[in-house]
Amino acid sequence: MTFDRRIKIAPSILAADFANFGAECTAIEAQGADWVHVDVMDGHFVPNLTFGPAMCAALRPHIKGVMDVHLMIAPVDPYIDAFAAAGADFITVHIEAGPHIHRTLQAIRSKGKKAGLAINPGTGIDAVPQLLDLIDVICVMTVNPGFGGQGFIHSQLEKIRALRQLIGDRPVHLEVDGGVTVETAPLVAAAGADALVAGSAVFKGGSVDNPMPYGANITALRKAAEAAVG
Ligand code: DX5
Ligand code: ZN
Repeated sequence: MTFDRRIKIAPSILAADFANFGAECTAIEAQGADWVHVDVMDGHFVPNLTFGPAMCAALRPHIKGVMDVHLMIAPVDPYIDAFAAAGADFITVHIEAGPHIHRTLQAIRSKGKKAGLAINPGTGIDAVPQLLDLIDVICVMTVNPGFGGQGFIHSQLEKIRALRQLIGDRPVHLEVDGGVTVETAPLVAAAGADALVAGSAVFKGGSVDNPMPYGANITALRKAAEAAVG
């Protein structure tokens, strides 16, 4: 299969109805989501708690396409097997989550999963060239992780541009996570991002009983991003 360099919209279910996750996943996929972004938080690496591998396993049958699991947990190594068994397609771990990121990425690949590297706003990208051959997606955090609905950190645009250069022709997705709206989507797309995570901007105005706004929001984000790359 050829590598998909088109703009992908990945709604974050952090902004969905927590009592209705299965139906929310079905709704956003029906409304045009490319990937379903699942935010796992441990109350330690980030100051918020969400859910663990059992929830991901429960969600799996409700997601037809890509389940993009973003692990904001430390330590992360003891949980890789559980998230792989839960059916994640992408398992993204933070470069800040431990001293042995190279081993962690190897562990994800050894499970037959695609490996993601997330980078916080305060972290540089010096180590990326050493890791690039182990990575399927780089996730640039454009907020400090932990909560949805935060403001986009503009200083990260330069990092996105630098990573786009580093990636070159490699089959590596460049994902952006946090504060993505119709206003900021063109900025990240022009800087070189091809996968846009969006929570609040996708789920606003809709519900499982009224999913059309999800579709309108996804389309608006996609159009805004595509217009910026021509
Ligand atoms: C932040 C999470 C994001 C978040 C994005 O810690 O990793 O995925 O849900 O939410 P918005 O789009 O509302 O900034
Ligand atoms: Zn996320």
